[in-house]
Amino acid sequence: MITEHTVCRACGSKSLFNVADFGEQALANSFRKSPSQEGEPRYPLVFKMCSKCWLGQLSHIVPKEELYSYYPYVTSTSKTMAEHLDNVCQNVLGRGKQNASPLTVEVGSNTGLLLKLFKERQARVHGFEPAKNLAEIANCNGVQTTPDFFNQATAAQFVAVYGRADLVLGRHVLAHIDSWRGFFYALDTLCQKHALVVLEVPYLVELLDGFQFDTVYHEHLSYVSLKAVEALLEDSPFYVQDLDRTAIHGGSITFYIRRRHQRQLRVSEMVEHIRILEESRKIGEEEIWKSWSAGVRELRDEIGEQIRLVWDSGVAGYGASAKGSMLLQYCGLTEQKLIKFVVDSTAAKQGRFMPGTNIPILAEEALLKEDVRYALILAWNFAKEIKRKNEAFKGKWIVPIPQVRID
Ligand code: TMP
Ligand code: ZN
Repeated sequence: MITEHTVCRACGSKSLFNVADFGEQALANSFRKSPSQEGEPRYPLVFKMCSKCWLGQLSHIVPKEELYSYYPYVTSTSKTMAEHLDNVCQNVLGRGKQNASPLTVEVGSNTGLLLKLFKERQARVHGFEPAKNLAEIANCNGVQTTPDFFNQATAAQFVAVYGRADLVLGRHVLAHIDSWRGFFYALDTLCQKHALVVLEVPYLVELLDGFQFDTVYHEHLSYVSLKAVEALLEDSPFYVQDLDRTAIHGGSITFYIRRRHQRQLRVSEMVEHIRILEESRKIGEEEIWKSWSAGVRELRDEIGEQIRLVWDSGVAGYGASAKGSMLLQYCGLTEQKLIKFVVDSTAAKQGRFMPGTNIPILAEEALLKEDVRYALILAWNFAKEIKRKNEAFKGKWIVPIPQVRID
């Protein structure tokens, strides 16, 4: 049962104002075996902002069991992602004093790609992954993984067997969690005294600056600012000690969070810098978001018009990403007549259909084999790599975000 969300999950205020209504959409990762039909479940997608702590959040919440028991998204094995994960690993292991084999826990560990890097560097590793299909792959690859949600109960069970964690990682998971307070209670149970918690999320300022409307979908319950995380942690045992900004997933921010008694570790200058940035951008003000949502509607129309201008030359989509599902649905590009097919490297998505559409998903080779003259890059965060590996494609690339670009 879908529930309505009316109280800010970071600061508890009810001062949420509407930013944009994206209509009713099929779930962005529900890749079905048949074209979309009447009756395919669709849920409201309304983006709101908290005027008190500047947390973006959705108005409706789909039960997590419906979203994550089976999950087709596997962490990309692209070069861009491999480099990023390697940087994350080196960076985290380089921070603070850790023992030679720190107990490292990842929440939402997917197929275990990141933990594998830690394991190769002698860390003891353990993942929590509610999607059974992914947990199984991780376990087969030698990354011990609990096939369950991370919460107070599973954290306590873990600690009883293995002890408390030195390092906790959560990449692109905080935005998916409804109960932020519950999450930090569970971290309190899990973390040892000097633990470092590393949370990477898409950054709200990038969403704002880059008109990244397609990153708004049902799994992303929150759109995170530093101010919101600091509001949440205000009366908790944790604080934000440092931050990083990286280019991954269209621009992310990484929170380095520690227990308060470690205050001898100075809050980094980056934290103050980001506080000032957020203040100066006025991201809690309705006016800013009004103009953002007007810009988003213009961009939606422009993307739709562009495809309608060239559809008869043959247009393919590149990357059956969740944001691609959102973009196609919101821009009204749901007919195979407009987008002949979408290519994607993920075997589990091939042979299925883009959610809410009748557009089939094929293997990447189809781009060169089929008669298409345009490729709309739905995984625009990997645009550079996609173009590089498809130099043989003689058609034109359309990049939709932050503005329509054709080359
Ligand atoms: P993401 O942006 O959510 O990580 O999704 C990217 C999608 O694009 C994912 O389904 C994998 C796909 N993809 C390809 O098919 N080929 C590629 O070269 C890259 C980089 C991604
Ligand atoms: Zn708030």
